[in-house]
Amino acid sequence: MLTKIENLSEYFLAYEKSVANPETFWGRVANQFFWRKKWDKVVDYNFEKADVKWFENAKLNITENILERYLYTLGDKPAIIWEPNDPKEKGITLTYKQLFEKVCEFSNVLKKNGIEKGDRVIIYMPMIPEAAIAMLACARVGAVHSVVFAGFSSSALADRVNDCEAKMVLTSDGNFRGAKSIPVKEVVDEALEKCTTIEKVIVAQRTKTEVTMKAGRDLWWHEETAKVDTQHKAEEMDSEDMLFILYTSGSTGKPKGVVHTTGGYMVYTQYSFQNVFQYNSDDVYWCTADVGWITGHSYIVYGPLLSGATTIMFEGVPTYPDAGRFWEICDKYKVNQFYTAPTAIRALQAFGLDPVTPYKLDSLKVLGTVGEPINEEAWHWYHDHIGKGKCPIVDTWWQTETGGIMISPLAGLTPTKPAYATLPLPGIRPIIVDAEGKELKGNGVQGNLCINFPWPSMIRTTYGDHQRCIDTYFSTYKGMYFTGDGVKRDEDGYYRILGRVDDVINVSGHRMGTAEVENAINEHPLVVESAVVGYPHEIKGQGIYAYVICDTEGRTEASLKDEIKATVNKIIGPIAKPDKIQIVPGLPKTRSGKIMRRILRKVAENDTSSLGDTSTLLNPEVVDEIIKGAQ
Ligand code: WTA
Repeated sequence: MLTKIENLSEYFLAYEKSVANPETFWGRVANQFFWRKKWDKVVDYNFEKADVKWFENAKLNITENILERYLYTLGDKPAIIWEPNDPKEKGITLTYKQLFEKVCEFSNVLKKNGIEKGDRVIIYMPMIPEAAIAMLACARVGAVHSVVFAGFSSSALADRVNDCEAKMVLTSDGNFRGAKSIPVKEVVDEALEKCTTIEKVIVAQRTKTEVTMKAGRDLWWHEETAKVDTQHKAEEMDSEDMLFILYTSGSTGKPKGVVHTTGGYMVYTQYSFQNVFQYNSDDVYWCTADVGWITGHSYIVYGPLLSGATTIMFEGVPTYPDAGRFWEICDKYKVNQFYTAPTAIRALQAFGLDPVTPYKLDSLKVLGTVGEPINEEAWHWYHDHIGKGKCPIVDTWWQTETGGIMISPLAGLTPTKPAYATLPLPGIRPIIVDAEGKELKGNGVQGNLCINFPWPSMIRTTYGDHQRCIDTYFSTYKGMYFTGDGVKRDEDGYYRILGRVDDVINVSGHRMGTAEVENAINEHPLVVESAVVGYPHEIKGQGIYAYVICDTEGRTEASLKDEIKATVNKIIGPIAKPDKIQIVPGLPKTRSGKIMRRILRKVAENDTSSLGDTSTLLNPEVVDEIIKGAQ
């Protein structure tokens, strides 16, 4: 590949060029793709209006850059290797040629069932090959996919369907996860009671459990694909046409639909994939994320497939049938690049070395982490026991909104330092500002992380509400994209991400807006008010601590807490269930009625020695009671 960086001095050179002349730099990278028509201008932007365009007026279809592009050169190479939940079940390998056929076939199914360019399609599916096929088929016909993590509840699913006014849902009968078989279609049925825009639901068969099929609306995947052929001409898309919407949590209660467009996302996910992981043509790459999150979009599906890579999709969980499952899969497929989340590493570390030692792990060349800060202890365990001291760790910092990896070592090229994401990728210009937005120049500084120049895969808007995009990302600091993260730049110029500085917490690598969890808790009829904060959690990184004011109406505290957890489970899903709930007589409030979260955070962290000034509180007496009742 022309733009693959092969040593550290090439990285510095590429970085310099990308800053000195971004148009030439990205134009050269983009030239490696297949465009039906090239762009008039590489980049145009106005951050104050959150208006960003890459490869203006260029025409393409992203799937032609995966399927047609590799058909003759890599047709028989495995594109997707699917490993089922149960190791005794046979996996599935799809070569590039087979993937091409399956995507075309399903594109025809979408068209036949009324999907047109620009329509929104919800994908609510477990980790089965059909999920990736569905995404690519949407992209091929020009429909906008919005994948909703299959662990979300029916009410969270309904909110997303309604927000983007989707026309179709793609789903499965059920989902195998560890020892459990979980209903999926049933959740869709419940959600759709609250939706009016869905015309068709297509159901892939996985668990073969019985499901209700609504006449005129619900169709079976295998029956529909049997009716169409495997030829399909891809729709022509503009570079700035929407590729997908992915909902994510922010500081306010309502999830926002982060919008990514076609050309820039394609260029950047491929470029970052090949450089960060230093992928070589015969390597086998495995990212353990779920396609319901951005990591699954960019680094299971698009980035690897655009690079002609072999990408593994794993249906199951790291601890089933035992805590050696990841390592068993690494040996089975001779995985070369392995990419996971710190929470998974910590969870597996807790089992000790017995589940690791039976495996050779000698194919591994690169280890990656993503989603949350990795603590040094987990970094060393990963490095020593999984990488056997010889695999570089790429600690990749990025976000749903950034579309691709922003700050990360390039594997084997950038010298690493535990817990540091190290240096920005070419084209990425991080700057650190203080609370007032003043740039903190030089090394040895700490503040809020912003990016002050566009990059190709950045967020374009929040679906249906552009003002929200401006307010959330481009208004805190004028002329800059604000990430919401705190950061330190050390004496070597290396970046270390310190975590969120807004009301977002990071639970097992999943982003959770505290307001969203509070809204869910408040749905319980006896709850008067609640406040949610994060606290350090050994495995999850951060746990959810909820302070709740409620009437007990004769119930015990324990049963009330169970009911509150069940409410959150129903409204959002199991990932948002509070780890700790404390029933409190009141919440510390300022005279203007704002909850003083700083105090609640300190109590949750069990650090009440320095609560700071509480004299401005309306109800200072409540603080002592909260401390007394702390969990
Ligand atoms: C956090 C996941 C430290 C960060 C790709 C960010 C990280 C949020 C790292 C985005 C990392 C992600 N080190 N923190 N390597 N990677 N984060 O949108 O707080 O699910 O803002 O995207 O995760 O989470 P999201």
